Amino acid sequence: MPELRIAENEEKMAERAAEDIAAWIGDVLSRGERFFHWVLTGGNTPKKLYERLSRPPYDKSIPWSRVRVFWGDERFVPASDEASNVRAASEILLRKVAIPAENIFAPRTDFPGVEESAAQYEKDLKYLFHTIPRFHLVLLGLGEDGHIASLFPKSPHLTEEQRWVVPVKDAPKPPLERISLTLPLVNNAEQIMFLISGESKASVVKSALNQPIGKYPCQYVWPMAGTVIWWLDRAAYPGGELS
Ligand code: 6PG
Repeated sequence: MPELRIAENEEKMAERAAEDIAAWIGDVLSRGERFFHWVLTGGNTPKKLYERLSRPPYDKSIPWSRVRVFWGDERFVPASDEASNVRAASEILLRKVAIPAENIFAPRTDFPGVEESAAQYEKDLKYLFHTIPRFHLVLLGLGEDGHIASLFPKSPHLTEEQRWVVPVKDAPKPPLERISLTLPLVNNAEQIMFLISGESKASVVKSALNQPIGKYPCQYVWPMAGTVIWWLDRAAYPGGELS
């Protein structure tokens, strides 16, 4: 069972999650790690968090020069496309803080096909990490069908054990083509934080937490040696106590 943290509303959730992340970055860097390795999520839910981190105190208090960012998934669209997860995080947060360009590991989508894009991102990650990375933080959203990153229900990629990044060509959530980190990388993380808000997620949250593992990709998120926090607002988890 993940650790549930319930906030009154989306704004408060963004505020509290920002506090958590800033503290976690401080903890990791103060124990001697040279960089904080952080996987960002796409979609709409994290935008309020990214915006909050772009403002005081976090825009200056977080040592951004020691933060390296990656993406859990990206849509196979031009970097300038409104659907791009990299574009969203860059506009809302990364261009507003002093994170060096060399610390931003964005998937490239300027390839003829999504397969090449996924292969290149895996190559980039392997060049940096050599062995399977243990990210300090992986942010995830939750789809109404229980998907995480671009790993959708019944996808063969849910049981992928070798590849770090896979191409997705039939996403039920447009855009159709995406690249996604695989579960071995997600589950090797030290901390995984879901950001879930809105009434539309209440049903999948209730089912995923109460039904046996299998139907929902979010149920496959279980780090070997790490923690999983689900940040939810009251609309997504009507039964919860407030944090
Ligand atoms: C994406 C995301 C995806 C997202 C969920 C929730 O690229 O679409 O990575 O996994 O996190 O679909 O999306 P919302 O936050 O917009 O509800």
